[in-house]
Amino acid sequence: MMPEVVVLRYGHRPIRDERVTTHCCLVARAFGADEITIIGNTDENLKKRIEKVVKNWGGRFKVDFKKSWLEEVRRLKEEGFSIVHLTMYGKPLEKIIEDIRKHKKIAIIVGSKKVEPNVYIESDYNICVTKQPHSEIAALAVFLDWYFDGSELSKAFAGAKMKATEKKFKKTGGKNGF
Ligand SMILES: C[S@@+](CC[C@H](N)C(=O)[O-])C[C@H]1O[C@@H](n2cnc3c(N)ncnc32)[C@H](O)[C@@H]1O
Repeated sequence: MMPEVVVLRYGHRPIRDERVTTHCCLVARAFGADEITIIGNTDENLKKRIEKVVKNWGGRFKVDFKKSWLEEVRRLKEEGFSIVHLTMYGKPLEKIIEDIRKHKKIAIIVGSKKVEPNVYIESDYNICVTKQPHSEIAALAVFLDWYFDGSELSKAFAGAKMKATEKKFKKTGGKNGF
């Protein structure tokens, strides 16, 4: 069974979170998730930007907006998803990842603003990626990489119109050595 991975972005503050939420979407897609649901007001521009990335770079990634994180978590649980909340106040990723890998349907919650205590209670796993405060983008990337055990690095994106290739630069001996 192919894993099904949904990311839940808890909170999206207009303007302030725009860049970070966009990066959560890009990282979720590039590192193998199927879908991101953003809890907050619908941001059509953000959705269009990500849909354009999908159109050009392939795959089937979906962006959705929902008002209530709790309703979404309960719905996902009913559909058989295990809920993994990324937080610095959790169990170390490296100690629990083998257990999580047994679950083929997972929903990963990442915060923006501080999450309410119920997120910890509703989650099946509260997981830290280091015990240091850092970023939801970094936590998501590292978690997905561990969950897929590196296989996402060579994921094929069906229908891609664009593909990044390795650039080769030649030294020309100019002012900066190029
Ligand atoms: C920039 S942090 C803000 C945290 C917020 N100030 C708080 O006290 O909860 C945003 C999100 O990054 C993620 N995050 C930050 N550090 C993390 C860590 N060490 N492990 C896992 N996730 C982390 C969590 O999902 C967190 O909700």
